[in-house]
Amino acid sequence: MKLSNLIVQMMNEPSPIRQIMKMASRQNIINMGLNPDEIISYGGGWVGHHSPEELREEYLKICGDVNGFHESGKYSLTLGFEECRNAIAEMEKHLFGVNLDIKNIIVGQSSTQLAHDLLIALVNPGEKVLLFDPTYANYPGQIKMALQNVKIVRQRVLDTERWEYKDEKEMAEDFKELYEKEKPKIVFIPSPDNPSSQIFGDNFIKTMADICQEKNSFMVFDYAYKTQCFITPPKYFSWSPTDYPFMIAIHSNSKWGRGLGRRLGWMDADEEIINAMERVQQCSILCPDTLHQFTFTNYLKNNLENGRLKRYLEEIKKSYFEASKVTVNAIKEYLDMPCLIPQGGLYTLMKVNEDADKFVKRILKNTGVLFIPGKGFGDSLKEAVRISYGPHVENMDIIEEGFRRVAEYLEK
Ligand SMILES: Cc1ncc(COP(=O)(O)O)c(C=O)c1O
Repeated sequence: MKLSNLIVQMMNEPSPIRQIMKMASRQNIINMGLNPDEIISYGGGWVGHHSPEELREEYLKICGDVNGFHESGKYSLTLGFEECRNAIAEMEKHLFGVNLDIKNIIVGQSSTQLAHDLLIALVNPGEKVLLFDPTYANYPGQIKMALQNVKIVRQRVLDTERWEYKDEKEMAEDFKELYEKEKPKIVFIPSPDNPSSQIFGDNFIKTMADICQEKNSFMVFDYAYKTQCFITPPKYFSWSPTDYPFMIAIHSNSKWGRGLGRRLGWMDADEEIINAMERVQQCSILCPDTLHQFTFTNYLKNNLENGRLKRYLEEIKKSYFEASKVTVNAIKEYLDMPCLIPQGGLYTLMKVNEDADKFVKRILKNTGVLFIPGKGFGDSLKEAVRISYGPHVENMDIIEEGFRRVAEYLEK
C-alpha cells in the first residue's frame, strides 16, 4: 500500500507523548507485571472537574424535545450561528473585557481544528513559524501536517539552570534578535502555557506586538487555559482584534467546562482573517457542530448576566490552584527536585537531571507512576518531565501518593 510521503514521514516520527501513553496502556501495564488499577498517572493533559449542571440541563432540554433534537441535527452556517457568535461576544466582554463584534468571531470544532485551518489561511510555503521552547507538543506536527516546506524556529523561554522562565527583558531581547534573523510569519503564544503553566508578561507581549505590527507578522494567542489563570490576569487578555488586527485568539470549550470530548472552539480575529477562515472551514469541516452551539448559546444566555458562569469559573479556578499547590508541595516534600510554580493551567515541569525518557520508563516499571517525558515539548525539557494535576482536581489525595511512591523507590 502506498501512503502519502508526508504521512509516511510523520508516522516515522511518532510523538513521544503518544508513545509513553501507549506504553502505559492497560495491556502493557499488565505485561510489565503491574496492576493497572494501581497506576497513578500524572500524564493526562485534561481537566477532571465537572461541567456546569446548567450546561448539562441544556443538553437534556434539547435532547428531551423531539423538535429541539430534530433542529440540532441541521447544518450550521460555516461561521457558526449568529446567536452563538453574539453570545460569545457578550461572554468575552463580560469575562475578560474584550470588545468584539460578531464579524470578528468564527466558531469551529475545536482549537486544534481552528489552529490547523488558520495555518492554511495565513502561511505560505517557505515562510516561518515561531514556537517557544518549551511549548505545546502538538504544534510542530500540526504545522507539518497543514503546510509543507515551512520552517519552525524556536525561542527558548526557560532558563534551564535556574529552572525558571527567563525574565521579560531577556525574552524580549531574544525575540528581537530571533525576529531580525528569521522573520517568522506567525508566532504561537499559549498563555497559560502547556506544558509549563506559565503566563507571559505584558512587557514581553507588548514588545512582540510592536514588532509584529510593524513588520506584518501575526500573533496567535492560544487561550485553551485562559479561565484557569491563578495570577492577576495580564492586560493582553483583554486585547481585541479591533485594536490589534494582527492578533488572533483561539479558544475552546475543552478546558473551562470539561468539554474535551464535546468540543467547540472559536476564534476572534480581524474580519479579513475571519472571512479567510470561513473559506477554509468550508473545505475542512463545512460547519461547526449544531448541538453544541445550541446548548452553549442557551447556557450563556441564562448564566452570564446573573453572574453564575463567573462564579462557576472562580470556583473551578480555585480548585486547580489548590491542586497546583498540593502538587508543588508534594514534589518539595518527597522528591525535592526543581519544579515550576504554576501560574495557571494544569501542569508543572520537574527537572530530573537525567534523560527523561529513561527516567519515565524506569519510574513507571518500578512504581506504577506515570510522568510525561519533556522532550516532545522542546529540547529544553530533555531532562524534565511534565506533571499534570488536571485529572486529579476532584481527588487530590492521589496527588501526594504518587510522589510518596516515587520517593520510596528512589531512596532504595
Ligand atoms: C495549549 C493547547 N492548545 C490547544 C489544545 C487543544 O484544544 P482543543 O481541545 O480545543 O482542540 C490543548 C489541549 O491540551 C492545549 O494544551
